[in-house]
Amino acid sequence: MAKEKLRGLILSGGKGERLRPFTYSGAKQLVPIANKPVLFYVIEDLVACGITDIGIVVGDTQAQVKEAVGDGDRFGARVAYIQQEAPLGIAHAVKIAADFLADHPFVLYLGDNLVLGGVASFVQRFRGDSSNCQILLRRVDTPQSFGVAEMVDGRVARVVEKPSQPTSDLAVIGVYMFDRHVFEAVQQLRPSARGELEITDTIQYLIDKGLAVQAQELNQYWMDTGKMGDILEANAVVLDALPSRMEGSIDSASRVGGKVIVERGAQVINSVLEGPLIIGEESRIVDSQIGPHTSIYHHCQVEGSRIANSVVLEHTLIERVGYRIEDSLIGRYVELRGDGKTEERCCALTLGDHSQIRAV
Ligand code: DAU
Repeated sequence: MAKEKLRGLILSGGKGERLRPFTYSGAKQLVPIANKPVLFYVIEDLVACGITDIGIVVGDTQAQVKEAVGDGDRFGARVAYIQQEAPLGIAHAVKIAADFLADHPFVLYLGDNLVLGGVASFVQRFRGDSSNCQILLRRVDTPQSFGVAEMVDGRVARVVEKPSQPTSDLAVIGVYMFDRHVFEAVQQLRPSARGELEITDTIQYLIDKGLAVQAQELNQYWMDTGKMGDILEANAVVLDALPSRMEGSIDSASRVGGKVIVERGAQVINSVLEGPLIIGEESRIVDSQIGPHTSIYHHCQVEGSRIANSVVLEHTLIERVGYRIEDSLIGRYVELRGDGKTEERCCALTLGDHSQIRAV
C-alpha cells in the first residue's frame, strides 16, 4: 500500500505505575503539559504530518480518553478506539490494531511521548523512501531506562529493551514508522521476561529478516512523560517555547514579568506573576505569587499562596499556604488550606486527585 496513505496508531493504555498517585484515578496520557494533555500534542503532531485516520489503543482509562478526545473532529481527524484487555505490551497493541491498520503503513506514537516541534520531517522522509521501518533515536544520559539501539557502520544492528549494561547512549524514542511487514513480526513474537510483547523485539525481527530498518537521530527536545520529574521538566520546556497570550483579566494591583498566558475567563487579582506560566480557564488567582515555570489548570482557586515550578490540575483550591510550594504536582479537586503564616521554607508536594490537607 502506498505510503501516502499513512495511518496513525496512538497508545493510550498501560498502567502508569511510575505516575502514581495520579494514575490511580486518571490516564497518564491526559496529564497536562502547559495546560494541554500530552495526548493532544500527539494527535496534533500526527495531523500536522497529514495523518488524519488515527486509531487510539485504550485500556482501563478508556472512558476518560474517549471523553477528552471524542471522534477526533476538533483535531481535524477521524479517531477509532481499539480496546486492549490488559497492557500486554506495545507490540501486542500493534497486533490487536491490525484490522484498523488494514495493511496501511503507519506511525506508531506512544501517547506519553512529547517531541517539541513534532516529527513531520521524519514522517515525510519515510513517505518518500522504500524502507520498511523507521525509528528515531535520541542520545540520553540514562539509556538503561529505554529501548537502546546499537549502530554498526551507520545501520541499526541491534535494538535491546532497557539493557542493564547499555552498549550505546542512543534511546529509541516512542515514535516508530512501519509498513505491513510488522504484522508478520508481531505474530511471531513471544512475551519477554516481563511478560510483554516488546516493540524492540519487533524491530529486531525486522532487522534479522533483512528488511530495511532506518534510524534517524533526533536533535529536538523529547520527553517520555512517564515519571513525575519528567512532567515538571517538560512543562517548563514547553512553557519556555510558548508565546504570551491574554484572554482573561489581570487587575491593576498585580505585577507581571516574563511570558504569561492567561486563558479565557481567568482572573488575576493583586498578585505577582513571574513567567513563563499559564493560568487556565476560569481560574482565580488572588493575593498570590505564581511562577516561574508553573501551570495552573482550569477552574482552580489560588489565594494567599506562592507557587513555583509546579503543575496544578483542574478544580483545585490552594488557600493561605505559608510555605512556598515548589517542584510540585498537585492533582484534581485537591483542597490545600494553610494557616496563612508565611514561612521562609518551601515544600514540594505530590498530591493525588481529591487530596485534602488543612493546617490546624
Ligand atoms: O518512551 C520510549 C520508550 O517507550 C522506548 O524507549 C521503549 O523501548 C518502549 O518499550 C517504551 O518504554 P516504556 O517503559 O516507557 O513504555 P510504557 O510501558 O510506559 O508504555 C508506553 C506507552 O504505551 C504508554 O503511554 C502506555 C502505552 N501502553 C503500554 C503498554 C505496555 C499501552 O497502551 N499498552 C501496553 O500494553
